[in-house]
Amino acid sequence: MAETFYLTTAIHYPNGKPHIGHAYETIAADVLARFHRQMGRQVRFQTGTDEHGLKMAQKARDLGITPRALADEMSGYFRDLFDKLDISYDRYIRTTEDDHYRASQALWQAMEANGDLYLDRYEGWYSVRDEAFYDESELVDGEGGEKLSPQGTPVEWTVEETWFFRLSKYAEPLLALYRDNPGFIRPESRRNEVVRFVEGGLRDLSVSRTSFDWGVPVPGSPGHVMYVWVDALTNYLTGLGYPDETGNMAKFWPADLHLIGKDIVRFHAVYWPAFLMSAGIALPKQVFGHGFLLNRGQKESKSLGNVTDPSELVDAYGVDVLRYFLLREFSFGQDGSYSAEAIVNRANSELANSFGNLAQRTLSQVFKNCEGYLPRINGHTPEDEALFAHVDRVIHAEMPAAYADLAFAQALEAWMGAVFACNAYIDAQAPWALKKTDPDRMQTVLATLYIVIAQLSQAVIPVMPGSMGKLLDAMGIAPELRSPEGIRSHWYSPLAESEYRLDKPEGLFPRLELPEAAGEGAE
Ligand code: MF3
Repeated sequence: MAETFYLTTAIHYPNGKPHIGHAYETIAADVLARFHRQMGRQVRFQTGTDEHGLKMAQKARDLGITPRALADEMSGYFRDLFDKLDISYDRYIRTTEDDHYRASQALWQAMEANGDLYLDRYEGWYSVRDEAFYDESELVDGEGGEKLSPQGTPVEWTVEETWFFRLSKYAEPLLALYRDNPGFIRPESRRNEVVRFVEGGLRDLSVSRTSFDWGVPVPGSPGHVMYVWVDALTNYLTGLGYPDETGNMAKFWPADLHLIGKDIVRFHAVYWPAFLMSAGIALPKQVFGHGFLLNRGQKESKSLGNVTDPSELVDAYGVDVLRYFLLREFSFGQDGSYSAEAIVNRANSELANSFGNLAQRTLSQVFKNCEGYLPRINGHTPEDEALFAHVDRVIHAEMPAAYADLAFAQALEAWMGAVFACNAYIDAQAPWALKKTDPDRMQTVLATLYIVIAQLSQAVIPVMPGSMGKLLDAMGIAPELRSPEGIRSHWYSPLAESEYRLDKPEGLFPRLELPEAAGEGAE
């Protein structure tokens, strides 16, 4: 049976439309999902929306609609965006679905059966924006002297009867988990933060609310709904059919990776494993907290008026350009700053001028000088062999290792290095000049390029599935060859012998212009 890989993004509050951060996280997860599928693994990839809680309830109240109506409308925008971004999810989960209520209640009952839940009175600080309880000692002073959460969001004093989870009991087991599994929390800086937090001691966690009713009912406790993070985290199990422990649960759990933003690492690396330990369920293998994207160095916000609609970025630049840019430009665990200029520069220099031009030059020469038939190989020179070796090293060693490590920028940098090597090769070999002087050698040079271009296209299918699919279609590369092993096999001569004939090649990545409005107003 094939090895499995279960990965998830965070599920998002549909209290507004999606922003660039949602696109970023989901694209990264999609690249991983596609990469692992190419490696022959059976992948399950889940994303979706987190629809309960006070934040949703308050937003709906402000708009004069029900939370369900708000969730229905906004969840649709997220789903449409993910479809537009070519996200190959296997399940798009909404926490208002029936199977999710069942799963959340089953998890609750398992924690209760283990003696980890008790009723008491909560008195403390709560941030609706973060849907998080904070200890007094964590708060910071705002400009007007008001108290703010460590994330800079408003907090309110809350007093109500709630259920508590015995989180304090899990401090030692959690520290042992981090110690024994150094890769459980990544990157390293996030891991250190969490370890420090847990070493500081854990208080029991309030896990139900009684002051509003927009949530999953606590079983056997009328008037209580679950704290939104309890039901939200459970989504990772719901999607596998929990509480049924057979089928997808048996096949895919524990999750291989929860890919999330750095601001919610505490929920995933502290609360979630504690809930699972309590319920006797295996723990996920890794939690990765990625960085944030800034718009010209600033956080996007309604008050600054600099909120970018990711769907408009797709319309302006194309989905694959956006996917490539976001993963190429930033080191994945760290924050990054983007701008229209940065997207256009990256797309023009690397996609249009380097890779696009390489493919276009090569395929047009095959089209014109070989009547579209694949050129013959008349014995390779050391230069050809050196190029093959470079490309092979990049696509079979460097890129897979980098992808598997979520080092997307590194994977694409290695790829660009190989593209440069191909461009240097074509300039040095000058096949256009060989046409008259040595047509046999011209054929070999073009054949060499044809092979490496197919290999390089295959290697970035996870990042640019649409454009690379189109290019490989045009080149006659059958779908079953589009994997690292397939593209390494002996396919060129059979394809040439089948008299495969190229159509007139079309440019893949047009040169982009800076949108008029983008330069203005931004300074
Ligand atoms: N909705 C939360 C947020 O956007 C994330 C929930 S992720 C999950 O911050 F773990 F609960 F699934």
